[in-house]
Amino acid sequence: MQGIKLISMITASAVLALSSHVFAETPPQPVKTAGDAAKGQQIASQVCAACHGADGNSMIPANPNLAGQHAEYIIKQLNNFKSQDGKPAERDSAVMSAMVAPLSDEDARNLAAYYAQQKPKPGVANNKELAELGEKIYRGGNLETNVPACSSCHSPNGAGIPPVYPQLAGQHAEYSATQLRAFRTEQRANDANKVMHVIATRMSEKEMEAVSEFISGLRK
Ligand code: HEC
Ligand code: HEC
Repeated sequence: MQGIKLISMITASAVLALSSHVFAETPPQPVKTAGDAAKGQQIASQVCAACHGADGNSMIPANPNLAGQHAEYIIKQLNNFKSQDGKPAERDSAVMSAMVAPLSDEDARNLAAYYAQQKPKPGVANNKELAELGEKIYRGGNLETNVPACSSCHSPNGAGIPPVYPQLAGQHAEYSATQLRAFRTEQRANDANKVMHVIATRMSEKEMEAVSEFISGLRK
């Protein structure tokens, strides 16, 4: 997790000030999936499929798609849902904290390997007008309120940049908007240096909904 350490050394404001080409210069990280996808599939089909779909394409908009998501990001989230050393979980979810409690580190790596290999179903944005406003924010941010372009970290096509920046392309709009609100209130406080918290506090409710709508139709 060298990338996470590197990001921790940079303050949130410095990160927000960085332009996309600076991110592109970070040396590529080796992919450490090291998990056994076949073993992951067993747990996925028995436990996770009901909510996330058999292949990680969820039918329910409140439940995130996991197909094609980077393994490192998935492993981090599964850890973040656990309360550790008596401290509350960095990412608060009653449902997911119950799901991760019985998982070993190896289970988490296997599950991550399985989902990372699945093909995301291409999404479609339903509300074209809203998605157009969302595209402006995604690609250019909002200069007046200092919201950075999402594309600088999540990449222009929403594929994300492993190991730190998650794939967003095709994600359910309802889920993405819920996450932006959770970052704002810090119910989700697992973003290194509060990068997403700072961004979300600068966004209006309309902007959150618009960018989430655009993301739902973004294809990598
Ligand atoms: C009862 C439904 C349910 C089941 C079963 C379930 N999940 Fe989830 N999962 C959710 C919901 C809802 C969220 C969103 C949590 C939040 O942030 O509020 C979530 C979030 C996640 C995330 C974070 C995704 C992201 O993009 O950040 C991962 C990873 C995940 N689940 C993996 C799993 C795995 C692995 C299993 C099986 C061991 C599982 N889930 C079982 C409902 C479920
Ligand atoms: C400076 C880099 C950076 C920028 C710019 C950025 N993000 Fe993020 N974003 C992150 C990181 C890092 C995470 C993962 C946090 C974690 O470890 O859980 C994240 C996570 C997210 C998630 C949660 C994904 C999931 O699967 O749960 C959403 C949604 C999101 N960002 C949306 C946006 C939007 C919309 C914008 C533009 C308004 C944006 N981000 C701009 C770094 C960034």
